[in-house]
Amino acid sequence: ELPFAESYKIKMVEPIYRSTREQREEWIKEANYNLFNLKSEQVYIDLLTDSGTGAMSDKQWAALMTGDESYAGSSSYYNLKNAIRNIFGFEYFLPTHQGRAAENVLFSVLVKEGNVVPGNSHFDTTKGHIEFRKAKAIDCTVDEAFDTESLHPFKGNIDLVKLESVYSSYNREQIPMVIVTLTCNTSGGQPVSMQNLRDVTALSQKYGVKVVFDSARFAENAWFIKEREDDYRNSSIKDIVAEMFSFADAMTMSSKKDGIVNIGGFMAMKTEELYKQASVFNIMYEGFNTYGGMAGRDMNALSVGLDEVTNEHYLKNRIQQVAYLGNRLIEWGIPVQKPIGGHAVFIDAKHFLSHVPKEEYIAQTLAIELYLEAGVRGVEVGTLLADRDPETKENRYPKLEMLRLAIPRRTYTNNHMDVVAVALKNIFDRREKIVRGYKIKSEAPIMRHFSVELEHV
Ligand code: F0G
Repeated sequence: ELPFAESYKIKMVEPIYRSTREQREEWIKEANYNLFNLKSEQVYIDLLTDSGTGAMSDKQWAALMTGDESYAGSSSYYNLKNAIRNIFGFEYFLPTHQGRAAENVLFSVLVKEGNVVPGNSHFDTTKGHIEFRKAKAIDCTVDEAFDTESLHPFKGNIDLVKLESVYSSYNREQIPMVIVTLTCNTSGGQPVSMQNLRDVTALSQKYGVKVVFDSARFAENAWFIKEREDDYRNSSIKDIVAEMFSFADAMTMSSKKDGIVNIGGFMAMKTEELYKQASVFNIMYEGFNTYGGMAGRDMNALSVGLDEVTNEHYLKNRIQQVAYLGNRLIEWGIPVQKPIGGHAVFIDAKHFLSHVPKEEYIAQTLAIELYLEAGVRGVEVGTLLADRDPETKENRYPKLEMLRLAIPRRTYTNNHMDVVAVALKNIFDRREKIVRGYKIKSEAPIMRHFSVELEHV
């Protein structure tokens, strides 16, 4: 069989810069050992996030030029409305400036103090918006998700027993919705099966609970359903997506991922009632209903992006690149979340750096090592990200300490992946010598990982 190469050729390039280890030592110290504080030119290969960092296509750039910047009723709004109806089947939608803004607006309608919101490892902004309203996010992900060696094909699935136990322990009025995150970012870009979506919806309907999909990486999720779920091998991605969303009452979307745009988001819903309630908050926080937080041109580019991201050739190549990096690491025995997820390779830092105590931020220590080794920027998904318990103010130590290497869409080649892989191999070879981590100098009360200042222990 012929190898499957990129489904595009490159029309525009942007230089990136290598640096020396001495330079990086100085820069990371100045950044208080927080990779968010680095300047982008101090980074050689940037795998901090796949959010807003993808490359738009020529068709998306062309769509920018025909954006309609009318305050009300712009054609770009209607282009996006049509794309959302065609792809997700939702009649109603509201644009926002990014995904967390959609959460803010929708949760302003749905979430009240004392509520509980079950889900599959809610993303940190999702959890933040729930906890900010003095409600609680309850993780009902299947246990296999927390065993990095388990080869369960759908480690994003919700455990129905855990979900039902939430449904039966609280009053119906206390549970405004269940949130299913597609793919589940926190557990490693792991997919949710169609069967699980069907089952979660049936159970939620029985208890009268709304089903909301956090849809940032919906197309990557659809790809895994096609690959791994027998009934869908011969289905098109667009048909799979349509069926997935037939199970949801509403969705929030960070368009910066599977919209392949640099900024933007939206929420969409089945009923006019929810649309009207949400639009009150959207107008206050984001903007009038027909632009929300977005420029007309960006809505145009997003309509094209939603079509491109559901193209099978695009997805095959995308998922293959992430797997390429992951498989190189697996060959060297480097511990990663398996199977490899959709948007990122997650390194199991507890197993990689087994001498660093959890109180010294194991995954952050590995992230700093990787930066020092090769100028590669990943991100900690561990104790710093988990924040302190809002009640006890103690550190929350999550089951997994991960270093996430998120791969931007259509941005890097496999040569870049090779640099990342070899850099990690070098660190892996000297891992026994890494025994101490970092301590906090200062931190914010919520979402501390963005601004935390650290020093070497
Ligand atoms: N939901 C999920 C699953 C996400 O991964 C993100 C963002 C959001 C919601 C919020 O969207 O950034 O547009 O406001 N994730 C980024 C990341 C930041 O790096 O994983 P946003």
